Amino acid sequence: VLRSVVRGVGSYLPSRVLTNDDLSRIVDTSDEWIVQRTGIKERHIAAEGETTSMLGDKAARAALENAGLSPHDIDLVIVATSTPDYTFPSTATQIQASLGMTRGVAFDLQAVCSGFVFALATADKFLRSGSHKRALVIGAETFSRILDWTDRSTCVLFGDGAGAVVLEASQGEGSATDRGVLTTQLRSDGRHRAKLHVDGGPSSTQTVGHLRMEGKEVFRFAVGMVTGVVKDAFEATGTTAEDLDWFVPHQANRRIIDMSAAKLGIAPEKVVATVHLHGNTSAASIPLALSAAVADGRIRPGHLVMLEAVGGGFTWGAALLRW
Ligand code: ACO
Repeated sequence: VLRSVVRGVGSYLPSRVLTNDDLSRIVDTSDEWIVQRTGIKERHIAAEGETTSMLGDKAARAALENAGLSPHDIDLVIVATSTPDYTFPSTATQIQASLGMTRGVAFDLQAVCSGFVFALATADKFLRSGSHKRALVIGAETFSRILDWTDRSTCVLFGDGAGAVVLEASQGEGSATDRGVLTTQLRSDGRHRAKLHVDGGPSSTQTVGHLRMEGKEVFRFAVGMVTGVVKDAFEATGTTAEDLDWFVPHQANRRIIDMSAAKLGIAPEKVVATVHLHGNTSAASIPLALSAAVADGRIRPGHLVMLEAVGGGFTWGAALLRW
């Protein structure tokens, strides 16, 4: 059977760092409040004129270099983003052009914070069908552009950044010992728009709008959604929390991460967390965390890695892969 094996991973963060103390000079907040409620200490913010596709391009180049491949080896580009450069053309085609690719197909996918898991699942299905050979799966966001910088309940939570993986179709045995994506589980429930949404858009208000969130409500749902879909991924592959080497969750909030891991019986030392340094970078958070854990030698070939995310929609999902 065909499997989608990770060949490389890379990331990019804008150079400007915004600390909690910096934020306390903009809104009525404190380092203590933010750290205690979320675990976030700092986040990166894109420079003026630095767009989502620029961040995505740099992450893609880093992933290609890590894989020892060039843009011409890629025939599928999927970009998960909720903060595209333009309504159209897609951020993916912008990145395709900036990478100098003139063949293959590139498109965006929008599932907010679950976007990377949805994009990985989509690329996996393309590769396993045999229609495409190598995919760049990119999560890239500039949430700083859709924040209401006067609303302390949301503006302290998010950051900008991008991460990418290169996936390659490769023959496997069809067992849980295969390298590659073993299962992906995607879910959505559109009844919850009011809890987490952007209050603008081309067809509704003709404005870009700002992110609005009922934080307590989102928190209440998030842990249940995450644990449910991760359990489904374990069940689909006949694996358990003990088999796992690394748990790489969407990085929204340290408390959601820790509570989810505890409920799933995943040991704290298996949890990869970067939320303290990046804030919530939405679709970019998982590939940013993967990139950090590969670079420092934690995630190695053969390791069993569980990804999970939950976000606006609601959307949520999990992916289990053997690195
Ligand atoms: N600094 C200081 N005080 C603040 C701040 C702030 N930045 N933000 C809110 N407060 C105040 C509130 O005004 C409130 O004051 P009040 O009691 O006088 O009214 C008080 O702090 C408590 O506010 P709550 O919203 O009840 O605080 P809570 O403990 O629920 O923490 C938080 C808020 C951190 C947003 C939490 O609900 C949360 O993490 N929710 C999950 C949301 C999330 O992570 N979403 C990410 C996007 S979706 C995703 O990726 C899953």
